[in-house]
Amino acid sequence: LKVGVLISGRGSNLQALLDAASDSAFPAEIVLVLSNVPGAAGLERAENAGVPTATINHRDFQGRQSFDRAVTSALEAAGVEFVCLAGFMRLVTQEFVEHWHNRMINIHPALLPLFPGLDTHQRALDEGCKLHGCTVHFVRHEMDSGPIVGQAAVPVLPGDTESSLAQRVLLAEHRLYPECLRLIASGEASIKGDVFTLPATPP
Ligand code: GRF
Repeated sequence: LKVGVLISGRGSNLQALLDAASDSAFPAEIVLVLSNVPGAAGLERAENAGVPTATINHRDFQGRQSFDRAVTSALEAAGVEFVCLAGFMRLVTQEFVEHWHNRMINIHPALLPLFPGLDTHQRALDEGCKLHGCTVHFVRHEMDSGPIVGQAAVPVLPGDTESSLAQRVLLAEHRLYPECLRLIASGEASIKGDVFTLPATPP
């Protein structure tokens, strides 16, 4: 499966995907890393892994539609069949979501449907949650919604700060995202409409 990864920043989840994909047994190949932010740290991670990069600066576009169309064009020119959003900090248009329907996943740093949006770790602390985590999900038009591929939970520990909790969740993200992509790319898991089916696990 030919995968494009969209980023805006540091790209630690991208790194986890690159590391997984560097194994020849991994069923997905990352063929393009695209950033909307020039100079995003993740671009260098891709270059170090020998993966082609592109930058499409949203500020160069009049509106979301023309930006999203340019992104789709670049992805398709690179042969991308499946998109992973990895810290891509742009809302995408309905047209973009429909174009990549059931061919685009995102990682979100909370146990959805709890805490869509930003500041998830602080909100989990403020609510007194004892468990927190991350979710990989197919992308739908409503932000941070869509069929769930996988989740990983971590404890919220006494004395946690936003940053200590974020760090614990991030480690879980780095394990979860490659595993979810592997499940999809291998064909072990599949999506029809809004129903995502995982392989049956033996008892
Ligand atoms: C991660 O916490 C991810 O869940 C969220 O944005 C952050 C991106 O971090 N969507 P990185 O760029 O992958 O390091």
